Amino acid sequence: MSYQIKTIGLLTSGGDAPGMNAAIRAITRAAIYHNIRVKAIYRGYKGLIAGEIREFTTQDVSNIIQRGGTIIKSARSDEFMTKEGRAKAWQSLQREEIDALIVIGGNGSFAGALALTEEYDIPVIGLPGTVDNDLWGTDFTIGYDTALNTVMECVDKIKDTASSHERVFFVEVMGRDAGFLALNSAIAAGAEAAIIPERRTQEEQLEAYIGNGFRKSKNSSIVIVSEHSEKGGAQALADKLKAQHPEYDIRVSILGHLQRGGSPTANDRILASRLGVAAIQSLLEGQRTIMVGVKDDEVVYVPLTKTINEHKDVKQDKVQALHILSI
Ligand code: F6P
Repeated sequence: MSYQIKTIGLLTSGGDAPGMNAAIRAITRAAIYHNIRVKAIYRGYKGLIAGEIREFTTQDVSNIIQRGGTIIKSARSDEFMTKEGRAKAWQSLQREEIDALIVIGGNGSFAGALALTEEYDIPVIGLPGTVDNDLWGTDFTIGYDTALNTVMECVDKIKDTASSHERVFFVEVMGRDAGFLALNSAIAAGAEAAIIPERRTQEEQLEAYIGNGFRKSKNSSIVIVSEHSEKGGAQALADKLKAQHPEYDIRVSILGHLQRGGSPTANDRILASRLGVAAIQSLLEGQRTIMVGVKDDEVVYVPLTKTINEHKDVKQDKVQALHILSI
């Protein structure tokens, strides 16, 4: 069924990601360009339930393309994951006469959108917004490139201390259950190894990575650890290695939320702008339950169910390249 969309609702949900503002700007301007009204929903699904909604004009999104975070705030809502919560959200949508919803977020946010459309038959369009890059069907998610560059710059700095003091550093990075940030930042920063959830790392293997570095020309080692890849994270790995090699001078650095902040890179701004325009275009074409993504530099429409259920793997040649380059 295709019907005329007069008003869209727009929200950001889950962890904020650099480039979300660029997406908000693009969605707002593309909608208004096509004579569609835009209602910004504050604080994600929480705000949708509470009715924190305001109409946006083109001025509301001026001068935000360069800003990190999200001007309409974000939240994680347990209530929306319940039928009762979604019933309240539906009431808000009806009250505001919103006839399609655009959600910028990650997997959990899309799962919420899917549940809503299954119960209330409202078109929902997802924009991939997460630093984790873990969404199937798109080569990149909004925020990932910025976070990757941030991690790389941090590791470059840590390397100065690592080499000056001849230390082993375990650097823990974000990614939830995915190793994209860890693996790619390890390659970009010239680290010795990346511990990622997609590939099991045996203790002997880890020792080999580091021992290899120390025995040869290197006087320091950097291991990037994806959070949740090992029980206890980077600290637990460091403790294990210290127990086996008390002679190593070991430090742990957990980068934390600094990876989610900052001005988006050109790549993230361009991706967010393209996908924002494409989201409105998809609604005009009668699409109802998709994520707009990018594959081989082309905009693609991916069924929301697929992106939620399929698993995106890291590239094996990158795992191999890191291994070869760490000698
Ligand atoms: O999904 C983005 C992300 O930054 C993950 O990498 C991380 O595990 C999580 O969010 C942290 O969430 P919060 O900011 O709620 O602690």
